[in-house]
Amino acid sequence: MPSVADIFKTMEYGPAPESDTEARAWLARHGGRFGHFVNGAWTKPGLSFGVIDPSSNELLAKATQGTAKDVDAAVAAARKAFPKWSRLSAHARARHLYALARMVQKHARLFAVVESMDNGKPIRETRDLDVPLVARHFYHHAGWAQLLPTEFPGHRPVGVVGQIIPWNFPLLMLAWKVAPALAAGNTVVLKPAEFTPLSALLFAELAAEAGLPPGVLNIITGDGSTGAALVAHKDVDKIAFTGSTEVGRIIRKATAGSGKKLSLELGGKSPFIVYEDADLDAVVEGVVDAIWFNQGQVCCAGSRLLVQEGIHDRLMGMIRARMEKLRVGKPLDKAVDMGAIVAPEQLERITKLVEQGKAEGAEMWQPSWSVPKNGCFYPPTLFTNVEPASTIAQVEIFGPVLVAMSFRTPEESVALANNTVFGLAASLWTENINLALDVAPKLKAGVVWVNATNLFDAAAGFGGYRESGYGREGGREGMVEYLRLEMGDGRSETRAARRVPAGVSHLPSQISHLPLVDRTSKLFIGGKQARPDSGYSRAVLDPKGRRIGEVGDGNRKDLRNAVEAAQAAAKSWGKATGHLRAQILYYIGENLSARGDEFAARLRAMTGATAAQARAEVEASVSRLFTYAAWADKYDGAVHNVPIRGVALQMNEPIGVVGLAAPDEAPLLGFVSTVAPLLAAGNAVVVVPSEPHPLSATDLYTVLESSDVPAGAVNIVTGAKEALAKVLAEHDDVESVWYWGTAEGRKAVELASAGNMKRTWAHAGAWDWSAELPAREFLREATQVKNIWVPYGE
Ligand code: NAI
Repeated sequence: MPSVADIFKTMEYGPAPESDTEARAWLARHGGRFGHFVNGAWTKPGLSFGVIDPSSNELLAKATQGTAKDVDAAVAAARKAFPKWSRLSAHARARHLYALARMVQKHARLFAVVESMDNGKPIRETRDLDVPLVARHFYHHAGWAQLLPTEFPGHRPVGVVGQIIPWNFPLLMLAWKVAPALAAGNTVVLKPAEFTPLSALLFAELAAEAGLPPGVLNIITGDGSTGAALVAHKDVDKIAFTGSTEVGRIIRKATAGSGKKLSLELGGKSPFIVYEDADLDAVVEGVVDAIWFNQGQVCCAGSRLLVQEGIHDRLMGMIRARMEKLRVGKPLDKAVDMGAIVAPEQLERITKLVEQGKAEGAEMWQPSWSVPKNGCFYPPTLFTNVEPASTIAQVEIFGPVLVAMSFRTPEESVALANNTVFGLAASLWTENINLALDVAPKLKAGVVWVNATNLFDAAAGFGGYRESGYGREGGREGMVEYLRLEMGDGRSETRAARRVPAGVSHLPSQISHLPLVDRTSKLFIGGKQARPDSGYSRAVLDPKGRRIGEVGDGNRKDLRNAVEAAQAAAKSWGKATGHLRAQILYYIGENLSARGDEFAARLRAMTGATAAQARAEVEASVSRLFTYAAWADKYDGAVHNVPIRGVALQMNEPIGVVGLAAPDEAPLLGFVSTVAPLLAAGNAVVVVPSEPHPLSATDLYTVLESSDVPAGAVNIVTGAKEALAKVLAEHDDVESVWYWGTAEGRKAVELASAGNMKRTWAHAGAWDWSAELPAREFLREATQVKNIWVPYGE
């Protein structure tokens, strides 16, 4: 034993272990074997897998490998519980959510210890961060449950929700998923990750004790195959997933065309940007939190350190000195900074990627001390001299490995930061508020932290851009993920009362024997009328089969040109003020109105509408343009009330380039109702108009030309809609696709979207476009939320 004097001299920490007695007693009460938790009770343990403490490789318990039959039983229990749960009064559900929050607080220490033992993360983190945030999530969502009828009128719960979560924040991810789902009135089947099932099982057991009705929350344990069975289950209405982009892609494909709602929170390679005027001492602590918190197993970890050239060497020296002082050890020791990696597979993955980094020529540095030999430990690691295109700069390592690169100017920092397929989070450090607020909107990321990192709260939505997924968790936008608006969602087939006639034939114009009745419309690309690449056109027929015109037969190449034009336009249109966008939408409306008779005549000829119907469609189109002109400067963000000294600014940003397969019915009104919200929100659009009735869209060329619409903001490619929609969904530079058409077309679009994990908003069946449509819903689908956290104070 060292004497007190010795300790003062060395300032060494002794061990400060947290007791595991209660946690072990809980495991023992279950005989070390767990079944699933279904319909408020434990099932008999079945074929099982071991749950390991990764810091010692000790077997903690055995959990049951869920089969398709188990999933079936859990979904059936959730379905049975749904009617009653969803019909509870808002207040009654709020009481339940509140009870869950209290339950978490009451058992906070037990949860923290179980989580640390199962995952390997330090007790300091589970005790001070994970579990308090879990309680906060349930409190916050008790509030949403109470306010649901007044804040979300016209919405209903989705139904039975399947939730699949990863192992890095097992209990917190459960809270992020379960709290909004239950608050919205859904029932849940949740599958925790196979490495870390214990805290979810404990939660379910204690939730039942706290009075949560049987079947409302069911837990099924197992590996990816159990998850896949849940995803495939016919009676599941929504899948919410957090995990790797690879599995996210599989799930996108598996749910395509099923009408299931989907939200995905996937991987990241988030930049941590340091400008030369930053407070470097604060930066060093920020780096520790960004990449060594939770052993770097954080989807939004600041894993790419981008440093302005002038301070690079100095900061690296400071970071190395700090790394030398980090402590890696037993997770239950209250004085360690880093615990164990979750499992041997993950340790191996990290080790391999680090070897690859060295092989690719980057310089690796690790502290002089070594990590404990027994268990899955990996030391904090820093790479310098990293090529931006190298593997370790691009791939999510998901471990305590930081890769550093330098930049010269703020422009270069933005380019480097955005040089990734991901877009989850970003952290930027500068004392210059002008620079911070100039750079933050330019970063492709769902969350930006200014002079801070890894801040989370239930009031501020969290989620990604690009291949980091879509959907948000937390805040109002997180609630929307668990609700359906009474109309206009993915399951609107039942509304498909009106079938649209296929009135199109395909013929090469060169060999046409019929005299042309009308001139052939070209395509509209980059603000100019362009001949279709194919050199072919398509006849447009009236309801009696007579030819009334021809339009260009667009193909893949035309779409490529259109997307290119849209990309260029998106840059400036996305930055245009709401006021300017409003002016232009009003102007389109005005010009359309001035040519109302002509457009009405065209509608009559194409669709056989009566004079009154055609006139009404034109009038409604003008009115709709005015609606979105009105919204263009009013679809505001918010300032979230997060528990920091500072603000979290929610910005509703345009998505960028959106592909749109417009509805076949209501050829003018359907076109305007979908293009206008996208424009109002600042997107550039590539539209495939109504296939049988495209002439209303081609007639709009001259309206757009005379209304100051910037070149490339609206591009129109006529042709075979289903085929063109699929091309748009496959295109890597298209960031979202809206689709109205058939069930098969919707499925094709959703499947193809998995390529770059673009968002889709796809519908099967005809709509009544003359009805009052929920503008906010259209605008929500036309935007993506970025939350910028700005702590302040000297
Ligand atoms: P994973 O994506 O395979 O696992 C996450 C969850 O999905 C687990 O519950 C798993 O059982 C389930 N799952 C796996 N295959 C499935 C399928 N086909 N259908 C339905 N569910 C399925 O992640 P894994 O293998 O644990 O980790 C691999 C890498 O993924 C990590 O190294 C890291 O890069 C990344 N990852 C990212 C996370 C994030 O939060 N962004 C979380 C976990 C992993």
